[in-house]
Amino acid sequence: MSQIQVPLILIRDEIVKNISSNTKAILGVHLYGQLYNVTKLEAIAKSYNLLLIEDAAQAHGAVYKDGRKSGNVSNAGAFSFYPTKNLGALGDAGAVTTNNRYLFELINTLKNYGRISAYENEYKGYNCRLDEIQAAFLNVKLKRLDADNLKRQEIAAFYLKAIKNSKIKLPFFSKEKDHVFHQFVIQVAHRETFVAYMNDHEIEVSVHYPIPPHKQKALREYNKLVLPVTERIHEGVVSLPINPILTQQEIYTIVEVINRY
Ligand SMILES: Cc1ncc(COP(=O)(O)O)c(C=O)c1O
Repeated sequence: MSQIQVPLILIRDEIVKNISSNTKAILGVHLYGQLYNVTKLEAIAKSYNLLLIEDAAQAHGAVYKDGRKSGNVSNAGAFSFYPTKNLGALGDAGAVTTNNRYLFELINTLKNYGRISAYENEYKGYNCRLDEIQAAFLNVKLKRLDADNLKRQEIAAFYLKAIKNSKIKLPFFSKEKDHVFHQFVIQVAHRETFVAYMNDHEIEVSVHYPIPPHKQKALREYNKLVLPVTERIHEGVVSLPINPILTQQEIYTIVEVINRY
């Protein structure tokens, strides 16, 4: 059974060849809850004098090997607290973290209509304030985040050990705490058949994501791009159930059903 890992050399080449004089920042995504290659992206950003921004929407509490957590491995980190996230509110919510005072003041102003005082707007801003009720829920749930992430990591470790089916490609797992398994994503050929099989056994699986960004209608200007690796991955990915409230019996059943596929 193979585990999926993207060669790091490719990542560097792909980023560097797309840097131009218009480039201001690199935006890395901690996809599925796994930190991007922090050392590599920091080095590229530094050598090209670019800001590094992290999309930490799926990676609350992921820890890099030097002890830094998601949201603290770049110039600014964006978090989503959408209810299904590892740290979710009871409605929409989000936050940006930064150690940079200029960015802090700018973002703090932009999130509140670009106001610098009650009736004075310095920028064209947004209304992106975090509602106090949601903040109160998050304060309570934050205390459980590490325990919940540990549970996700234990389930992932069990899936990796127990799923034994040559039709299934398992995700790469470094055994560091840099992956908090917002999603546990496998790859399988003939995805529709597999999804139907799982549903027949009353196991809900999802697809993150069926359409790659460059093929979305909203990004028409990129629709002609050919990205074979991305396209192949999008055709085969399936997210297995992973959340801290899964029971041991449910996890065993999921593995057993997959192994019989
Ligand atoms: C990787 C990633 N980035 C950004 C977002 C957007 O977060 P929100 O819906 O809270 O704006 C999401 C939410 O699904 C996400 O998964």
